[in-house]
Amino acid sequence: MAKATAEFMSIADIKMGETGPTGRPWPKLPVPAPPDPSVPRRAQIIAMTNQKGGVGKTTTTINLGGALVETGRKVLLVDFDPQASLSVGMGVNLHALKCSIYDLLLRGTDASFDDVVLPSSVPNLDVLPANIDLSVAEMQLVSEMARERCLAKVLDPIRDRYDYILIDCLPSLGLLTINALTAADGVVIPLECEYFALRGMAMLTHTIDRVRESLNPGLSLTGILPTMYDHRTVHSREVLDRVLGEFGDQVFHTVIRRTVKFPETTVAGEPITTYAPSSSGAAAYRSLAREVLARRA
Ligand SMILES: Nc1ncnc2c1ncn2[C@@H]1O[C@H](COP(=O)(O)OP(=O)(O)O)[C@@H](O)[C@H]1O
Ligand SMILES: [Mg+2]
Repeated sequence: MAKATAEFMSIADIKMGETGPTGRPWPKLPVPAPPDPSVPRRAQIIAMTNQKGGVGKTTTTINLGGALVETGRKVLLVDFDPQASLSVGMGVNLHALKCSIYDLLLRGTDASFDDVVLPSSVPNLDVLPANIDLSVAEMQLVSEMARERCLAKVLDPIRDRYDYILIDCLPSLGLLTINALTAADGVVIPLECEYFALRGMAMLTHTIDRVRESLNPGLSLTGILPTMYDHRTVHSREVLDRVLGEFGDQVFHTVIRRTVKFPETTVAGEPITTYAPSSSGAAAYRSLAREVLARRA
């Protein structure tokens, strides 16, 4: 089995065939060609899911979005957490928000997608914002017809407007997350490189399997993303080795290091790719974007 390497430079400096941070040879990740304008858009929908909080779901949604936009893709970020960290992290003023994803999810309002979607400071990167209203949706959804498909019904009609739709899930495996998994084509699981990282993974993969069997046969695991990796600690490396032992090639080659640049970008209200474009964190999410694009092909 490949062993996590003790140290790695910025991911941008690793060349094909060299040992990557996960101990596997670094794959060929070419600069992505822009999308072919003659092919009609049909967004791939990816849910960022882990029932643990604080593992990097929101950070990954925002920064993967920022990196995909740099490749010429048009991207929608969907805030599906009542905490609204994604909306705040993208600079949305929650107090000025008239309607949110909540208004699209449940019958009873006549808000349309265009009433809710907001442009961000980054061209081609839009946000479907959430606020605390979403916290009651879980309860209200229970009495809806086809209650697992409410988000899919919101997103399917706008697939032709984006290349990627990234859903930032809340830390739970309840009905909102089931809605995200039912709407999605792929799942990215951010996994914090710390001791209890693997706890709960069996429950999460079981939930994904159940949704695939009963609601969404097209759902696949895009990949597992190790986050908050601290190359100076033996501990982080041991956890990464265990994750690789358990999940093998389902683990992305890209590993996200722990750096204060990420909390800073949240305050700045924009992705790291525009806030600190030459940082190693920006390079890491660009590399993830290339892997995500390659795994779609
Ligand atoms: N690679 C990282 N290094 C350091 N801090 C990070 C990193 N990724 C995320 N964070 C910070 O950790 C906290 C939790 O991350 P977040 O993306 O909000 O997780 P989740 O959405 O899973 O709850 C946030 O304050 C965020 O800025
Ligand atoms: Mg979050």
